[in-house]
Amino acid sequence: METPFIFGKIATEKNFTDREQETANLVQNFTSQINTIIISPRRWGKSSLVCKATKLAMEQDSNLRICHIDLFNVRDEEHFYSLLAQKVIAATSSKWEEAVESAKAFFSHLVPKISIGSDPSNEVSIDFDWETVKQNPDEILDLAEKIAKKKQLKIVICIDEFQNIAEFSDPDYFQKRLRSHWQQHQRVAYCLYGSKRHMMMEVFTNSSKPFYKFGDLMFLNKISTPYLVAFFNTRFADTGKSISEDAANLIVQLVDNHPYYAQQLAQQSWLRTRDVCTVEIVREAHSALVEQLSLLFVTITETLTVQQLNYLKALIAGEKAISSTKVMHRYKISSTTSIARSKAALIKNDVLDNKAGEISFQDPIYAYWLKTVYFAN
Ligand SMILES: Nc1ncnc2c1ncn2[C@@H]1O[C@H](COP(=O)(O)OP(=O)(O)O)[C@@H](O)[C@H]1O
Ligand SMILES: [Mg+2]
Repeated sequence: METPFIFGKIATEKNFTDREQETANLVQNFTSQINTIIISPRRWGKSSLVCKATKLAMEQDSNLRICHIDLFNVRDEEHFYSLLAQKVIAATSSKWEEAVESAKAFFSHLVPKISIGSDPSNEVSIDFDWETVKQNPDEILDLAEKIAKKKQLKIVICIDEFQNIAEFSDPDYFQKRLRSHWQQHQRVAYCLYGSKRHMMMEVFTNSSKPFYKFGDLMFLNKISTPYLVAFFNTRFADTGKSISEDAANLIVQLVDNHPYYAQQLAQQSWLRTRDVCTVEIVREAHSALVEQLSLLFVTITETLTVQQLNYLKALIAGEKAISSTKVMHRYKISSTTSIARSKAALIKNDVLDNKAGEISFQDPIYAYWLKTVYFAN
């Protein structure tokens, strides 16, 4: 039997809950060509939300084309430009012949090297001589606008893990260039999203940076309890099982409303359930999940410094005034400078999240493991 929960993949249809307002706003921005920036930690549902809004927006507007680019493994401009060209052409062509045609027609300085895959989808891949791209990147940056005009289309370019461009060589110069082109586009809008809150904030909210005030800023939250509880109820019922109210609430509480973990723990609980999922089953599933992840947690923990761990210990204990002499002494924290340094490093490596000064653990299961296993020993 197919299991009713999914995690680690895009949540669609029955697997998707909540986000009504966010979906409506995003569809509105896509169809009216407003730039949008979405920020949330990883696994909170950005890709799923963008995917849902993409479908709805394209249903509403037959002249709209939306292309998706993921920068997760893109580390330099060269790779960025070739992906951009390729995805824009693919999204605006209905057949591979048309894609080849576009690749030839829309460049004047650049000479694309076109190759067609041998698989049945015949995906067209386009490459350029990097030296000429370096001299004429404008052709690629304006490609979407050109195609949109020519074919009477509207285009939205969605770029995931956008913060990676901050790691290119000379990122400010590169961002200036992107912005100066993109802000002139009439028929192309951009949806830029990423998982590193601190880096995304730096790119989009620092008034000295090129992308300052580029578009609507959307902070995606976790999923609220009533939606998750209703979602568990439906998915259990769809498969001829049920879940008690207490059990459903316990799942939400144990994963701290984290969308990915909510689905994962629900799945583990569902697998252990014959008819009715109880609190005991959820607790058992949770222990198994913690156990399953513990090796990973050990690995993460090994990369942390003693001062970082001391700081985490104080956080986990719920200390409010960590920089007070008493608390610093209790947790062997050497100085307030050490706190600031630990905090910055832990945010940078995604252990902690800083939401307008409110510090929390990105991974609720890791926080639980630190508390009940690591620091308990
Ligand atoms: N709207 C949603 N409803 C239910 N589950 C969701 C939703 N959004 C995300 N999830 C869960 O979180 C996981 C990660 O979602 P994803 O969209 O890939 O997040 P992100 O792009 O922010 O990393 C999904 O596989 C799914 O389990
Ligand atoms: Mg994603």
